[in-house]
Amino acid sequence: MDNRPIGFFDSGLGGLTCIPYVLDALPDESIVYFGDTARTPYGSKAVSTIRSFAFEIADFLVDSSVKMIAIACNTVSSTCLDELRERHPEIPILGIIAPAAYTAALASHTGKRIGVIGTKATIASGAYRKAIKESAPDAEIFEAACPALVPLIEEGIIENEIMDLTIRYYLDHFVSYNKIDTLVLGCTHYPLIRHNIMQFYPELSIIDPSRELLTTIETELANRGILAERTESIPPENTFYASDLSENFVNMISRILAGSDANACFRTISLEKKV
Ligand code: DGL
Repeated sequence: MDNRPIGFFDSGLGGLTCIPYVLDALPDESIVYFGDTARTPYGSKAVSTIRSFAFEIADFLVDSSVKMIAIACNTVSSTCLDELRERHPEIPILGIIAPAAYTAALASHTGKRIGVIGTKATIASGAYRKAIKESAPDAEIFEAACPALVPLIEEGIIENEIMDLTIRYYLDHFVSYNKIDTLVLGCTHYPLIRHNIMQFYPELSIIDPSRELLTTIETELANRGILAERTESIPPENTFYASDLSENFVNMISRILAGSDANACFRTISLEKKV
């Protein structure tokens, strides 16, 4: 038993799409989330820059006494998971690519043609291709970077024809030319535009890494014997940090926590000052 929080982080609000699954399945757990909203997006930056940002955030989460870090960011998971594990061997650090890649590999065993969309850095890393091929060497995999999507989502431009045009710009040819029938949303921001995507390509089956991550979290907590156990007198606490506490970020947290009785507080912290 271990009642310390689980740490999550992303470049911004995208990683928040992992949180409802955790709150529903593991109501005794506490969460510390860090969104690097002041420096988003990560996906078009150099790997060395992404790595230095990720190190700062991981150090901050470890200083905040988390018992585990779940990287709610495909870009960080695909570019510096090993380095983060080397830096903090004292706690488990989970990446988001492996669980979704495994689900994609299972789909490919039944003849599915797998599309993976993500940031420039995620697609350039080839992390999904490599991880899927480990379980399914003959898988048909097609990848596309969609760098304009994250900035639009961070701005809250979702129910809007600019978003719809951007989706079609990236996906129309990609989906039809490659005859894709299964699409991995390889960026934690993309579940926020899932319904926009489905409206144009209703035949696609979607694999959502933000959801798949939960299975790994549950397995790791159980295997290591570090699940939280609460009493009524000490309820779980959830803290959401942002390097720039934008209105959009706060709204998204409120949306995510709506309907749950989870405690939450919001704080802003500048990692640059701390380092
Ligand atoms: N949400 C992130 C991901 O899963 C990062 C997007 C970005 O900052 O470019 O890749």
